[in-house]
Amino acid sequence: MSDKCKKVYITTPIYYVNDVPHIGHAYTTIIADTLARYSRLAGMDVFFLTGTDEHGQKIEHAAEARGKTPQEYADEISARFKKLWDEFEISYDKFIRTTDPDHMKGVQKAFETMYDNGDIYKDVYRGHYCVSCETFFTGTQLVDDEFCPECGRSTTIVEEESYFFRLSKYQDRLLEWYESKPDCILPKSKRNEVINFVRNGLDDLSITRTSFDWGVKLPEKLNDPKHVMYVWLDALMNYVTALGYGTDEAKMDYWPAKIHLIGKDILRFHAIYWPAFLMSLGLELPHHIGAHGWWTRNGEKMSKSKGNVVDPKEIADAYGLENFRYFMLREVPFGQDGDFSQRALIDRINSDLGNDLGNLLNRIIGMSGKYFDFRIESEGVRLHHASQLEEAEKIFGSVEPFLYEVQTNRYLEELWKTLRIANKAIDTGMPWVKMKEGKEEEAMATIALVANILAKTAILLHPFMPKTTRTIAGALGFEIETETYERLIKRKELLEDFTIEKIPPLFPRIEEPLVETAAEKNEAEKKSVEKEARAKEKRESKKGEERQDAANLVTIDQFFQIQLKVGTVIEAEEVPKSKKLLRLQVDLGEERPRQIVAGIKEWYTPEELVNTQVCVVANLKPAKLMGMVSEGMLLAAKDDEGLCLVRPEKPRKPGSSIG
Ligand code: MSP
Repeated sequence: MSDKCKKVYITTPIYYVNDVPHIGHAYTTIIADTLARYSRLAGMDVFFLTGTDEHGQKIEHAAEARGKTPQEYADEISARFKKLWDEFEISYDKFIRTTDPDHMKGVQKAFETMYDNGDIYKDVYRGHYCVSCETFFTGTQLVDDEFCPECGRSTTIVEEESYFFRLSKYQDRLLEWYESKPDCILPKSKRNEVINFVRNGLDDLSITRTSFDWGVKLPEKLNDPKHVMYVWLDALMNYVTALGYGTDEAKMDYWPAKIHLIGKDILRFHAIYWPAFLMSLGLELPHHIGAHGWWTRNGEKMSKSKGNVVDPKEIADAYGLENFRYFMLREVPFGQDGDFSQRALIDRINSDLGNDLGNLLNRIIGMSGKYFDFRIESEGVRLHHASQLEEAEKIFGSVEPFLYEVQTNRYLEELWKTLRIANKAIDTGMPWVKMKEGKEEEAMATIALVANILAKTAILLHPFMPKTTRTIAGALGFEIETETYERLIKRKELLEDFTIEKIPPLFPRIEEPLVETAAEKNEAEKKSVEKEARAKEKRESKKGEERQDAANLVTIDQFFQIQLKVGTVIEAEEVPKSKKLLRLQVDLGEERPRQIVAGIKEWYTPEELVNTQVCVVANLKPAKLMGMVSEGMLLAAKDDEGLCLVRPEKPRKPGSSIG
């Protein structure tokens, strides 16, 4: 992947025009944009495709409901997607629409090729069809014999003449592909789901419809005008028609795709149908199909009908587009669902961006100004900070694979470790002391080490936050481009001497949520109804409470008097002469860590505790154990087999409250 001028083709799904863009669409597109930007920065020749999926019964219905022709309606919504991606500065090279004449020609060409090689035949289809998902289901797949297993909507029984694609013929070749290319589906855990599905047997696929009109017609040669193509055949073909398949073939040398980025709900179409179509057409298979999870609100998938959709534009306008990009790419491991909340976004901005990145830059601007008239010279870095530089370089040289496995969160997590190295170098190097001692060269070396770490971080962060990192690079006297990527990252060179530019703080602190989203308005209404119901219940159950008191039950208010918090163990050691006690320093997001003395030595060694998270009773009166003050208590569970700590299922910010 590191070859120069290597062709890299990256795609998003093409979005249905029956709905306006939401945060889920933005997520796929932003991941793809980040990969495309990284590949360009690394000197590769990139083609990045996005677009809209405009045919099918669902769109026909949506247009009808608005008194428009399908084409008028598709034009309108497609333009909204394009406008949003332009506002989001998505660096796509082509925006394809399935109503583009060249695309339709390409799809017809593909149909004809598959027909000519015997992979398409005509028969009668009987099945349960979900218009919303544009998918047929067998009777056994339905919920309560009627409802769609994907979206829960009612299905209809359809019996119609149809052309079929011989999907069953490709079952073994598909299985061979999954076996021989373990990373063809990312995250790798999703591959097994697909393999199991295919092993259960594949039916041939109905690929035409006669019950509606809004779709690509069959090739003239077949002389069967009442059929239109199944939307998924039409849509999947966009990945090659965008390169000129079936017309001028102008960009077919970008094929096969490096990665198709999609959401997990459309994995089956991409990991089964699409490679089978490609095999039939004699085209190579994509290198990777990357399926991300869903953005949810309070654990539920976002949808217009639930009224919990988050508008990405509204959020980006309020918090800054690049902060929003950083949040989405940092917050959830690829493939897993992530719950959107403004609080989590604010925490990322204040903590990762403000405290870790922004403050570091401010610190060296301040120090270089005070001591060296803003000059920075890298000369002494290798002499005085060889080990820190080496440690940071090791990280800079190791993050790229995370990106191509779409583990953007891991990539950023690793990158942030270099900021910690830099911060620590200042704290231990103490340039202000060195200046007092007359060791100017050493003070300069520390400041220059940090400047170099920041510069290299800015380059590797550039695909995620293009403008912010350009500003950082500007302050550090260089420009982010392939040449500087090669020099500072690949060849591990240091910055030439320069004068640092003072810039205003990049990430002003945010205290409170900045927008009341439609979803939040709905939630607020729901909450106030619930609050009223609770108050009523409280009034009515006063008597009952008295009885409960007698039975030793606590009320919810009593429960919340206990402050439970998530903490990160930053140090742990055995308490000398004690069989049971360990002394821990636990970060609860406060000014200083808390000392907690815990009776867990029989079950845990200090090493296995450091950098792990625990749950802490945070408002317990401090107590003395073997002469040491303990400022909290760890939650743990104990039975006959021993004791284990209670921990958050996923890492949370130190100090997050539990309740
Ligand atoms: N038109 C098809 C794709 C054809 S590709 C050849 C389609 N369109 S879609 O507009 O419904 O969805 C596009 C993408 O958005 C899918 O990858 C889907 O997973 C993603 N998302 C839709 N809702 C989502 C969330 N709530 N969260 C994250 N992504 C989700 O499917």
